[in-house]
Amino acid sequence: MAKIKIRKAVFPAAGLGTRFLPATKAIPKEMLPVVDKPIIQYGVEEAVAAGCEQIIIVTGRGKTVIEDHFDISVELESQLESRGKYDLLAMARQISNLGRVAYIRQKEAMGLGHAVLMARDLVGDEPFAVILPDDVIDATTPCLKQMIDVFDDVQSSILATQVVDGPGISAYGVIDGKPMAKNPRVLEVKNLVEKPKMSEAPSKNAIIGRYILTPRIFELLEKTPLGAGGELQLTDGIRSLLEHEKVYGFSFEGRRYDAGDKLGFLKATVEFALKRDDLGEEFREWLQELSPLKV
Ligand code: G1P
Repeated sequence: MAKIKIRKAVFPAAGLGTRFLPATKAIPKEMLPVVDKPIIQYGVEEAVAAGCEQIIIVTGRGKTVIEDHFDISVELESQLESRGKYDLLAMARQISNLGRVAYIRQKEAMGLGHAVLMARDLVGDEPFAVILPDDVIDATTPCLKQMIDVFDDVQSSILATQVVDGPGISAYGVIDGKPMAKNPRVLEVKNLVEKPKMSEAPSKNAIIGRYILTPRIFELLEKTPLGAGGELQLTDGIRSLLEHEKVYGFSFEGRRYDAGDKLGFLKATVEFALKRDDLGEEFREWLQELSPLKV
């Protein structure tokens, strides 16, 4: 069988970002910077590094600055050029060169499954990736690339997972799966539940915001009833997919930050800043001075 390439990545970005108010009253949460880069750019760079050629961003009201961010800024570029700021110019150009970006509006916030369904026409009849921009993942091999490597082998839908201990599990989709003998990081999914009570969670394996899905998900999402929170849940659509095809969980290597949450955002900011060549050393010294006094 000829190997199918994952060419398209869908970014649901229409959410209201209520966990991050008041910052997100007028600014999309996807544009909040971790150090100096908007959250969504981390995900887009990951998709491009994994070989995706087309980025599909599902937006909504108040999100047009995301389009401006990935577009060419003629004024900015000519000003940087005339002032000889070539490093910054290269950085600005690199952003507008990140693959082909298409936008589609989700007119009503009806859930993640509904957001993914909005991308149906742009994705067409081929397997595709979904990246939830809030989940920023720091990994030596980009998380989506790790998943595509597994996809090349199994040619089925794959959900990124991570172990979550304690009551926090109720904030996630949770899978019940059986590890594969040849690679225990890959689980064959038997069932999955969206935001279960801790006592009803089938395991500690939480779904993290990276998916590879086969196009059958679209016809199934069309028929999926509203689920947790009165929303059309992607997890519920994937449970229907299980009736037709195999679905795998994949415990990726890397560190994930929930950058849509204030604490997760702070952790990501500190850790990414510490890794920066231009900031890390001074920032570390300052943290060390600060910690005995204030922490
Ligand atoms: C969404 C999904 C959930 C998944 C989570 C990962 O939930 O519905 O299954 O575990 O993303 O971040 P949300 O965070 O949008 O409530």
